[in-house]
Amino acid sequence: MSAEIIDGKQVAEDIRNELKATVAELKEKDIVPGLGVILVGADPASQSYVTAKERACEKIGIYSDDNRLSAETTQDELLQVVERMNNDPKINGILVQLPLPKHIDEATVLLAINPDKDVDGFHPMSVGKMMIGEDTFLPCTPNGIVQLLARSGVETSGAHVVVVGRSNIVGKPVANMLLQKKEGANATVTLCHTRTKDLGHFTRQADIIIAASGWPNTITADMVKEGVVVIDVGVNRVEDSSRERGYRLIGDVDFDAVKEKAALITPVPGGVGPMTITMLLFNTVLSAKRANGID
Ligand code: GUN
Repeated sequence: MSAEIIDGKQVAEDIRNELKATVAELKEKDIVPGLGVILVGADPASQSYVTAKERACEKIGIYSDDNRLSAETTQDELLQVVERMNNDPKINGILVQLPLPKHIDEATVLLAINPDKDVDGFHPMSVGKMMIGEDTFLPCTPNGIVQLLARSGVETSGAHVVVVGRSNIVGKPVANMLLQKKEGANATVTLCHTRTKDLGHFTRQADIIIAASGWPNTITADMVKEGVVVIDVGVNRVEDSSRERGYRLIGDVDFDAVKEKAALITPVPGGVGPMTITMLLFNTVLSAKRANGID
């Protein structure tokens, strides 16, 4: 059996169309959601992510305030930009693109963002609220994964979800979100990582695998059971001289082999990727609604 492919681009487009309609309704009330974007330095991958975020805002009618700062920007200068955005009523969401240059302390910067504008969901206040199941901004990639599962009709309640990878951006939050006592969650979650002994022992028991290790071929066909649902969060560049740009993107899963055993699987690209920006737009619109007492 070959798996059905989860079309992340389509799901993302559906949600963006819903958001576009909400933004149009807000406009009738003279409300324009605004996103402040800050990029420090010229890392090519970060530049392309930030450009994609700004374009996506523009397409659905969200105002974006683009701040590209030099790699030499001091922590104090960056904190001043964050503070300006904290106090700017046109800005409903603040996004500081990570990673930051080494001379800047990431935790200090994330802590400086007003939690009411924390559309990335990385502020410790947001993380804490997520953990105890209170309403807050949910981090974009994990929330995108939960939405993909829900909109693909995957039952998570009682399912055994095995998450591979313990990053603050994906592994830890997605594990946390899926174990909440809530609709679209209620899973039994196992969190595996680089020190896990015999990863396959755990992944073979999974009804749903979320691969977020950051390494190609972390999940191979012998490590999954028939009928598993596989969400591949990996974005790895591998050399490919047949492509003009010299590389192609692959995930953390051996897609061709695993899809022969899985029931459902996300491709890379075109799976989780398009959902991340979509959930950022979702959080920005949500923040604008909350700031205006609509929710
Ligand atoms: N770097 C990699 N992923 C993300 C993300 O979701 N948000 C931010 N701000 N930076 C990132």
